[in-house]
Amino acid sequence: MWCFNLILVLTTIVYATGSPLYNETSVGASCTITSFSQVNSVVKSCTNIIINGLAVPTGKTLQLDLKSGTTLTFQGTTSFGYGTKWEGPLIFITGNRITVNGAPGSKLDGQGPHYWDGKGGANKGKPKFFRIKATGGSTFSNVHLLNCPIQCVSIQNSNHLTLSGWNIDNSAGDRNKLGHNTDGFDISNSDTVTVKNSVIMNQDDCVAVNSGKNLHFSNLQCYGGHGLSLSVGMSKTDSSKNQVSNVTFSDCTVKNSRNGIHVKTHSDATYGSVNDITYSNIQLYGITNYGINVQQDYKDGSSCGVPTNNIPIKGLKMSKITGTMSGSNSVAVYVMCGSSGCYNFNWSGVSISGARKGSFCKNYRPPGVSCEM
Ligand SMILES: *[C@@H]1O[C@H](CO)[C@@H](O)[C@H](O)[C@H]1NC(C)=O
Ligand SMILES: *[C@@H]1O[C@H](CO)[C@@H](O)[C@H](O)[C@H]1NC(C)=O
Ligand SMILES: *[C@@H]1O[C@H](CO)[C@@H](O)[C@H](O)[C@H]1NC(C)=O
Repeated sequence: MWCFNLILVLTTIVYATGSPLYNETSVGASCTITSFSQVNSVVKSCTNIIINGLAVPTGKTLQLDLKSGTTLTFQGTTSFGYGTKWEGPLIFITGNRITVNGAPGSKLDGQGPHYWDGKGGANKGKPKFFRIKATGGSTFSNVHLLNCPIQCVSIQNSNHLTLSGWNIDNSAGDRNKLGHNTDGFDISNSDTVTVKNSVIMNQDDCVAVNSGKNLHFSNLQCYGGHGLSLSVGMSKTDSSKNQVSNVTFSDCTVKNSRNGIHVKTHSDATYGSVNDITYSNIQLYGITNYGINVQQDYKDGSSCGVPTNNIPIKGLKMSKITGTMSGSNSVAVYVMCGSSGCYNFNWSGVSISGARKGSFCKNYRPPGVSCEM
């Protein structure tokens, strides 16, 4: 509060004299937000911001368009009101060269249980949680998200961005299968993004890459969801939105999930491409449906059975993909390619045990794997 008042005083001096002798940036003041009404003025004037125990009213986005170079720290519990049906996001942070940290013990509570109905996106009115548009070497560290109403984190139009030490805990959504479409990290139209050293407990893709290049995921622990995914073909008209290249997933574990690895291209999308994707050292435990699933027949959220070549997958590399499956529908490797949709795959060290059904490949058999064509 003292700092906030100081800013007002300084601002007054600036306006009074017309040419400031000093300003907030030069004194490095830190500014604490404890109520929603303070957000706009603090974000406009401060570069060292603390958000402490903030309650965001229902139906409002906590919009933080940070000044270049800003450091933002979350303390205590940031909570988001519920009771309104809307699309969100609950929080949207933008900026260049920004540093965002969660202090020890802090969390952002999306109040998921108030929205969950087992239907996810099929029943509208659940706000997306956390959107990021950041550039220039920005970092987001140690953020703890609790109970996402629907998709948890969406990274869009970003470059040179690193996320590390995240804890996305949506495990309460497993109860009665009420949490649904609660993707961990969705990435689109971004270049040079790293997500590492994070834990994700949810009910849909742990990671879903929609578009972008030079994207790296490492040391992720995924529980309860649908695995490490590429989902390409969101656009039916603009092929620039259906491009993915140079993506790596390394040193990750996927537990008690529907899929371990899932590369899906949408059969009803316009053209696109998926190039140079590497999964290495991925450990799977208790995967119920597919250890590795590559499918070019994805449509409206499921398999349509007719794979297409509109978004070719080239240079899909797997090395050291190991682990176990459980459940009566489990298949270690499932490859459903268009007639000429897949090429130059390089798989080695794929060893997934416990599947109840045989591996299957259509139109293409990746070297280094045995599957019935
Ligand atoms: C604040 O001071 C710094 C350093 O003197 C200067 O570079 C910057 O432009 C000033 N900002 C504003 C908003 O006056
Ligand atoms: C892949 O991405 C990494 C990191 O962003 C980069 O260093 C590397 O040069 C990229 N590789 C290619 C072939 O573009
Ligand atoms: C496949 O990957 C292995 C290493 O994992 C590499 O030694 C080999 O040259 C690659 N083969 C092709 C055809 O790229």
